[in-house]
Amino acid sequence: MQFRRPDGALYTEEVVGAEGFSGISSICYHIHPPTLVERIEEPIPYGVEYADEDFLRHRHLRGFQIEPGGDWLSGRRYVMGNADVRLAIARPTQAMDYFYRNATCDELVFVHEGEGRLESLLGTVEFTQGDYVHVPRTVTHRWVFNDGRPPRLLVIEAQLEIRFPKRYRNAFGQLLEHSPFHERDIRPPADLVTHDEEGEFEIRIAKHGYLHRYIMRYHPFDVVGWDGYMYPYAISIHDFEPITGRIHQPPPVHQMFEAHNFVVCSFVPRLFDYHPDAIPAPYNHSNIDSDEVLFYAEGDFMSRRGIDRGSFTLHPGGIPHGPHPGTTEASIGKKETRELAVMVDTFRPLKLTQIALEIDDADYAYSWKPELHGNGTEVSEAGRR
Ligand SMILES: [Fe+2]
Repeated sequence: MQFRRPDGALYTEEVVGAEGFSGISSICYHIHPPTLVERIEEPIPYGVEYADEDFLRHRHLRGFQIEPGGDWLSGRRYVMGNADVRLAIARPTQAMDYFYRNATCDELVFVHEGEGRLESLLGTVEFTQGDYVHVPRTVTHRWVFNDGRPPRLLVIEAQLEIRFPKRYRNAFGQLLEHSPFHERDIRPPADLVTHDEEGEFEIRIAKHGYLHRYIMRYHPFDVVGWDGYMYPYAISIHDFEPITGRIHQPPPVHQMFEAHNFVVCSFVPRLFDYHPDAIPAPYNHSNIDSDEVLFYAEGDFMSRRGIDRGSFTLHPGGIPHGPHPGTTEASIGKKETRELAVMVDTFRPLKLTQIALEIDDADYAYSWKPELHGNGTEVSEAGRR
């Protein structure tokens, strides 16, 4: 429909969407055409190489050792991935002097440390420690971090979309009351700032293993209004209300997001199982069709040998894992945990990068030897799964 600028010219309509015209979309109104390309520069290679020799072993990656550097994209240190998902730690020290659009992947960023704002053509999303920030693919944006020490960010890149689990929603898409979070916890873009500026504005578009460099004539954030379902948002891990029970609840109760061939779960402070004979520590398990990644954000897991803030563990399908020696008995009667962790369970095997191998704790695969654990009176948080 005709929607005119004050000077009488038409605003330029753009449908930003997915899956042809069948998926979610938003309609936004630009002052200038979003198609006006001034020139295209040489693309920057942006692929991930995997160094893993396909050895089957449990891994402990000391993610906290990853040094800061680079900007939002050059600073991503990829540690593992497959065709469905890639995981990186980012500690950028340089500002983005360009705009960014991922043309392949939805991006979900867990803010371990730091704060700032995500600026997009649809408005601004403020974020702070503990937030997940979800940026749907194709949304042009840039990250601005507040001054201070470099942030610590876990970046989850999903082939295709990331969404809330279907079982939490009714037939109309609304989150059900048994969902551990609610629509009111979702913080969509606010404070739409419209930039009517002409000049040279670079958008780096991630696709096919390259960052394609498009120099646009007009500022990409020249939108005067929009509506729809595709937009970036933030939701805090602290707004996840844990589901607990008399006996051990399996990991799916911690699920927060789903995507193609993987899920993301939030482990948050909660009461332990309260049946008088309950064992809060979980059973050993071997999920043959799942590689299980835990990212330890906060909590008491330091009592587990070597596990620190910012560590990853990778427990691949095909070999069992479970509580460290002594922790099952020691967990009995414990009332609660203060842990905070993000789990990514993939349904196809993960491969490690060279960076991951450099921060790998080679002894971890042997850490279930009882002689390493004294009399076993320490209760390990991480050892519970
Ligand atoms: Fe597990």
